[in-house]
Amino acid sequence: MKNDMDVEPNLAVLLDVATEAAQAGGAVLHSYWGKLENIREKGRPGDLITEADQAAEAAVLAVIKRYCPDHQILAEESGALGNPDSPYLWAVDPLDGTTNYAHQYPFSATSVALLIQGGPQVGAIYDPFHRELFRAAKGLGATRNRQPIHVSKTDKLAQSLLVTGFAYDRRETKDNNYAEFCRMTHLTQGVRRGGAACLDLAYVACGRLDGYWERGLSPWDIAAGIILVEEAGGIVTAYNQGPQRLNTGRLLATNGLIHQSLSQELLQVEPMVFNLE
Ligand code: IPD
Ligand code: CA
Ligand code: CA
Repeated sequence: MKNDMDVEPNLAVLLDVATEAAQAGGAVLHSYWGKLENIREKGRPGDLITEADQAAEAAVLAVIKRYCPDHQILAEESGALGNPDSPYLWAVDPLDGTTNYAHQYPFSATSVALLIQGGPQVGAIYDPFHRELFRAAKGLGATRNRQPIHVSKTDKLAQSLLVTGFAYDRRETKDNNYAEFCRMTHLTQGVRRGGAACLDLAYVACGRLDGYWERGLSPWDIAAGIILVEEAGGIVTAYNQGPQRLNTGRLLATNGLIHQSLSQELLQVEPMVFNLE
């Protein structure tokens, strides 16, 4: 009997599924904009969930299940779904940037990725507030609104614009990224805190930003963005330039040209001890 991996996956078709799913989620985000009635904390302080997260996830899942009923899904709000034996795993963040969204700061998107045997191979990210659709699949390149994109050519850290973020556990750990943020702010033209990891990666892919690092992330935050950066000519690794592993929640993504210097700087940073009681 044939199993799923006996047939070469058609990444172009799977990319269209990811795109339809991300656009369905993004349409829901647009429709709830400014109309939220139910904003709650999920667990840690500041980790929010709204009716838009749940409705967008339902819309994304409906598309994936319609086309790929035999695949696995890992969705932020619903957890693990589908066939656990499938080599195909969809990683879904229906609303990346929930804090922004809840405050009506328009920097959020729906992110849909397909991992095949553990590696991100297809990604679609849709930002309905700027009407930007970012897409990539392994070997097929990366696009923004269907036009090819490429990482920036900035080759010096001192001339770079970076982005990072701070996980919801930042008040509970010394590994909170505060010291890294200060050091890189000192060494570069600036460090932004976008608040939506998938768009941070998409912005590296299209050259608006030169590099991104962050810890405490989940596969659904970064899987689509990783394939985008790679297909746009950039590099994604662990902080020490070793292979990036999704389950570490940590990554360094750059245009390639500043990768080594950013990695070296990140590895030198000592945690900053605050007394912020
Ligand atoms: C968060 C955003 C944010 C990052 C957090 C993520 P959410 O996702 O991507 O930029 O710093 O670590 O959890 O909660 O808005 O889906
Ligand atoms: Ca997220
Ligand atoms: Ca989310």
